[in-house]
Amino acid sequence: MSWPVDWLALFGRPAPLYLEIGFGGGQFLLEMAAQRPLHDFIGLEISLPSLRKVARKLEKANLPNVRLFQGGAEAFLWALCPPELLSGIYINFPDPWPKAGHHHRRLINPQFLHLVATRLKSGALLEIATDHAEYAAVIHDALSQSPYFASQLAVPFLTQDETRTRTKYELRGLAQGSICHYFKWQRNAYPAPDAFPIPQEAAMPHVVLRTPLTLGEIANRFTPMRVTTETAALKFIELFQSPHEGRLLIDVYINEKPMSQRVGLTVCLRQDEKVVIGLHEVGFPRPTIGVHHAVRALADWLLALHPQSTLLNSNVHQSNET
Ligand SMILES: C[S@@+](CC[C@H](N)C(=O)[O-])C[C@H]1O[C@@H](n2cnc3c(N)ncnc32)[C@H](O)[C@@H]1O
Repeated sequence: MSWPVDWLALFGRPAPLYLEIGFGGGQFLLEMAAQRPLHDFIGLEISLPSLRKVARKLEKANLPNVRLFQGGAEAFLWALCPPELLSGIYINFPDPWPKAGHHHRRLINPQFLHLVATRLKSGALLEIATDHAEYAAVIHDALSQSPYFASQLAVPFLTQDETRTRTKYELRGLAQGSICHYFKWQRNAYPAPDAFPIPQEAAMPHVVLRTPLTLGEIANRFTPMRVTTETAALKFIELFQSPHEGRLLIDVYINEKPMSQRVGLTVCLRQDEKVVIGLHEVGFPRPTIGVHHAVRALADWLLALHPQSTLLNSNVHQSNET
């Protein structure tokens, strides 16, 4: 997918676009899409098994106005959605993370609402349902303190809504006597500064250097390491050496807002004795600035292993490491 996605091309028509975050069993998504054929719907789920199940249901339901995506809401909105794209977002029963030590994992917080505000059109809907009383209070605080939203109703939330399409989680909760909180809010016209620029891909990174060390000697000196740059946290996890080729593969985890990638960096010995560090294609990694920082950090480490090592050429973005 390009950053951002070409939504018009993906759906093949201009139509109001709605997003459901965390569709779970997919009932709500598919029912909404069936009821509103003139609107387009994106279903987003972090769980791959849920996505597969709903993809099978979608095939049978024959609904041309739905597309499913796997991923987390923050990265999805930030990287794939341009500002003022969406006419509405539904979040049904987001995980409440009830333990105090896990509250930071909750989806809804002031920073997330700011991101949501940038991706919604003025007047767009933001509907959230939860049966967790404490999370409902947190959501209420975050919505009422946000300058970007107003309730569609005279009250901040309803505890009964007979008109709505129920979700699987909701039906189970209601059967057990849970009290649900239904927030029906709306994006106002107050401008939200876009603090969430669409990430850019950089060129495929490479560093060329010369070192007296053999690949085996480099491999022996490797130990797992962490490097933090101004925009990325890098974890060099493990090094693998090919028994057949003049090549090393280093497994690296790159965490940079709004996403993380696990990539393989290669260290290749060319016939002219030059060593080239680059990005392996396995898993279709995106050559982001964080990937550039990883290639640069690996080159710096390798150059520091021997005083006669020299940097010959590089196209990587510089980074300030800590
Ligand atoms: C409690 S379940 C509710 C499922 C469904 N909405 C329902 O009401 O039956 C929460 C769902 O959100 C998904 N989820 C959790 N974090 C997410 C994220 N950051 N982005 C997208 N989906 C997420 C989970 O995989 C799970 O399916």
